[in-house]
Amino acid sequence: MKRSPELIHFSREHHPALVLAKRIQRAQDGDLDALLPSAAFLDELERHFAAEEAQFALQLGGLAQLASRFNAEHASLRALMHKLHAGDVTALPEFGLLLEAHVRFEERELFPALEADVDGETGFFNSLLNRQGKSPGSAGVAVEV
Ligand SMILES: [Fe+2]
Ligand SMILES: [Fe+2]
Repeated sequence: MKRSPELIHFSREHHPALVLAKRIQRAQDGDLDALLPSAAFLDELERHFAAEEAQFALQLGGLAQLASRFNAEHASLRALMHKLHAGDVTALPEFGLLLEAHVRFEERELFPALEADVDGETGFFNSLLNRQGKSPGSAGVAVEV
């Protein structure tokens, strides 16, 4: 799928998250310890969440249902990440399921809704691009997720 330039770095960061989520889901109970994410991975994920929240805040104000799910899933994932930071491997299966569901939600529902505003007169991305001196709808980048 094409992904707008403003979202491409988020989509790229979704790849390692999806890989980990699938490995957790396929793992047997005895293998979970080896899949406990590193503190660096969890910190990177937290930065990803914070960057999404900052960048999407304006548009999410007009997308109540999507905003509600986005915020609820970030909160649930953060609670699980807190446990994982403390080495609680029992949080891993739920974390794997929710992380995959959240990435799919963003790629399939949230990001397309945000991108739909690109050509709008008051669109968030439109104003962002104008500030950067680019024209709206300029070359998207193909992403496989
Ligand atoms: Fe994301
Ligand atoms: Fe997210």
